[in-house]
Formats: sequence, structure tokens, C-alpha cells
Amino acid sequence: MANQELVDNLNRALGLELAAVIQYMQHSFLVTGAEREVYRSFFREQSEESHDHAKTLGDKVVAIGGVPTVEPGMIRQSTDLKEMLRQDLALEREAMEAYMAAWESCKDSDRPTRFMLEERISQEQIHIEELEKLTSERKANVTKEKITLRQVS
Ligand SMILES: [Fe+2]
Repeated sequence: MANQELVDNLNRALGLELAAVIQYMQHSFLVTGAEREVYRSFFREQSEESHDHAKTLGDKVVAIGGVPTVEPGMIRQSTDLKEMLRQDLALEREAMEAYMAAWESCKDSDRPTRFMLEERISQEQIHIEELEKLTSERKANVTKEKITLRQVS
């Protein structure tokens, strides 16, 4: 019998990955100005990665006896790069919550799924940290540290 709670949480993550596929692609279309040179490919790569994540989630949902959702989560769009990055950070955080909830709903018999989720969660955390840096929510804390260069004799 399928672990329904796990199926539901994986489907929540799947819906958010589907939203990320579209949202990142839309951001790659909408970004203009000099930043487009860098961010067009950045957003497209993020979209493709979300696509890969959606594929493994859909395959897993079927493997454990569920039906994958075809409904994406909420998609946010903007023409302002900083706002786009904040929207992407919000979406990644929602996905992280869904992955964590899926991890929580794994029983002993779902251990392989739990391991898959652990790998995914560690990857998603890196995305979140990078988006926190890109939105300047997270900054390097160098002002308090004294940097000493080694003296060369
Ligand atoms: Fe993802």
C-alpha cells in the first residue's frame, strides 16, 4: 500500500519544481539590460535543473504507487532582476519545505526514498544559499575579521 502522506509531499515538491521550470524560463525571457548577458543563461540553467528534479520526482511518485501532479505551484514574474531573484528564493524555500516534509513522512520501508531526498535537500540548500548571496540577504562577514598576510622574509 502506498504511503499516502509521502506521495502527497512528493507531489507538493513536484508542483513547485514544475513552477520553477516555468518561472526561471520566464525570468530568462524578461531579464533586460547589461545583466541579461549573465542572467539569461543563469535562469535557463536553473529551469533545466528544475526540469531534471521534476522528472525524478514524477518517476518516484509512480514507483511508490501514486499519480504525479500536473499542477504547478504559484508562478511569480517581474521585470526587475532583484525582484526576480527574491521570487526565485521564495520558491526555492517553499520547495525546501516540501522536501523536508517528504523526508519526515518516510517510514523505515521508504529508506531509499529518504536517501534520495537527503541528496536533493543538500543540493537545494546550496541553491538557497547562492540566491541569498545574489539578493544580498547573506553577506560575507569579513569586516570583523582581521586579515593577516603571512610575512615573506
Ligand atoms: Fe530543485
